[in-house]
Amino acid sequence: MIGVFDSGVGGMTVARAIEQALPDYRLVYFGDLARTPYGSKSAATISRYSCQNVDFLLARGARIIVVACNSAASVATATLRATYDLPLFEVIGPAVAQAARLSTHGRVGVIGTRATIRSGVYEQLLQQQNAACRVFSAPCPLLVPLVEEGWLDKRETKMILRRYLAPLQQQQVDTLVLGCTHYPLLKELIQRRIGSRVRVIDSSKALAEELAAFLKANPEVAQTLNRRDEGDNLYYVSDVTEAATQTARRIFGRSIELHAATGTGDI
Ligand code: DGL
Repeated sequence: MIGVFDSGVGGMTVARAIEQALPDYRLVYFGDLARTPYGSKSAATISRYSCQNVDFLLARGARIIVVACNSAASVATATLRATYDLPLFEVIGPAVAQAARLSTHGRVGVIGTRATIRSGVYEQLLQQQNAACRVFSAPCPLLVPLVEEGWLDKRETKMILRRYLAPLQQQQVDTLVLGCTHYPLLKELIQRRIGSRVRVIDSSKALAEELAAFLKANPEVAQTLNRRDEGDNLYYVSDVTEAATQTARRIFGRSIELHAATGTGDI
């Protein structure tokens, strides 16, 4: 199985992109709803939770891991790579590659949770790809709860976005990376606010394409994965809530059965 984890259901934006790019492969998802949000937690705690999430997915047959959560990808990728000997994909690399390629004047904005922005990982990786690139980042902690409440087109959400995006507009960014699982659901609003000349990047599709290319180039790994004709994709969460069920439906445009993750040891 392709194992995907996130701090909650926002990572389903990534799972949806993988389902679309790789419809023949079976996917198992874990959303750590009991301990969400990760974006306000320390790097040590996020890394510990991330290892437990990978253990959960491995126990359910995952042979490849996708870190869909930007906060986890920012601070736990090195630990995960050092701990687990299996192919691991995460959302930041593809976003950085796209931003470096598409930026017209080397002025890139990044928005994300506090943990992601504090890690400085986007700046570091973007500058590795293009030393002349200037990165302007802004933590946007209020956006996750707004998305989870389904406030996707409310006046209050627009006001908060205006406030968060104003400094990036002042810096005249030409590209804006959506560095959080939840922000693709606000993409239209963000695009309208930041202006049509700014390229808004959501890395889920690029990540799915990277994964598809990897499987094509590594048939011996692809062979170890379960196929969709063996069963449906499975969506586990560490706490089943009505709000999560609604957000999942909003993301996929269909109802998704959320299974309670039981017998998960530390989770
Ligand atoms: N999944 C998180 C991320 O992409 C957002 C929600 C959280 O803070 O846990 O950073």
